[in-house]
Amino acid sequence: MTFTLDQFRLDGKVAIVTGAGGRGNSIGRAYAMGLANAGAWVVVADLNEAGALAVADEIKAAGGKAIGVGVDVADEQSTLVMADAAKEAFGGVDVLVNNAALMVDISYDNLESISLEAWNKAFAVNLNGALLCSRAVIPSMRARGGGRIVNQTSGGAFPATGLYGISKLALVGLTTSLAKQFGKENITCNAIAPGNVTSDAGKMLVPDDSPFIQFLQATVATRARGEPDELVGTLLLLCSDAGAWITGQTIHVDGGWIMRP
Ligand SMILES: NC(=O)c1ccc[n+]([C@@H]2O[C@H](COP(=O)([O-])OP(=O)(O)OC[C@H]3O[C@@H](n4cnc5c(N)ncnc54)[C@H](O)[C@@H]3O)[C@@H](O)[C@H]2O)c1
Repeated sequence: MTFTLDQFRLDGKVAIVTGAGGRGNSIGRAYAMGLANAGAWVVVADLNEAGALAVADEIKAAGGKAIGVGVDVADEQSTLVMADAAKEAFGGVDVLVNNAALMVDISYDNLESISLEAWNKAFAVNLNGALLCSRAVIPSMRARGGGRIVNQTSGGAFPATGLYGISKLALVGLTTSLAKQFGKENITCNAIAPGNVTSDAGKMLVPDDSPFIQFLQATVATRARGEPDELVGTLLLLCSDAGAWITGQTIHVDGGWIMRP
């Protein structure tokens, strides 16, 4: 088969993006818009239902197809309702982007003093959430002959230096496990590990005047920070026929931060 650029298209594919309706300029929103631009019908899912509906409206205003759904990815029943909403609106699910996570609203206490409650809450969303959403949609992917799962991990997991990084490193383990278990059913699972991104949440965590920016400037091979849209090309590769033979991988989209000493 000769390669054509059409292999990046997702016309008529149904894609769920979790965590796509939260803070204004978010990575999830960029993912949802990018998938819609590639032709996918998008289920914008978030704990913030009003935000999810607003992003779905943006996609529809631009000529795409989308619905907004409220979901708590840490709640199994809620993830099943989300999958049902996708089926009811668009007939099934082909793509799942597990992007929802706690990043700003997570404990950065040291490991000696961090509360078990904070620990469990982070894992419930950042790890269990991806498992529950995957389990909710795999039957539909199987029925449609395959699917694509993309987990949003983080450069902060390499190496992990606290709860957030540990939860994101665990997600890499979930990625390889799903990839191994479902590969023969034409369901791939990969992860994207962004560097420091200028989403609204990213800027709350690392303001422009933070000393961490100087550390990034000194250690990132290219630019210190990237924009949400700079992650979309990798997502489309992993969700489309162009990336059909890629599975179990973590792709670092980080300007080369992973090569820091
Ligand atoms: N911004 C960065 O620098 C950066 C870097 C690396 C990785 N990431 C990852 O990228 C993803 C998006 O980050 P962002 O910067 O857009 O942050 P964000 O806070 O805007 O996005 C996270 C979204 O998840 C939603 N969410 C939280 N708990 C939820 C739950 N229980 N159920 C459903 N939705 C829930 C939030 O409402 C929010 O919309 C996250 O997984 C984050 O860890 C971000």
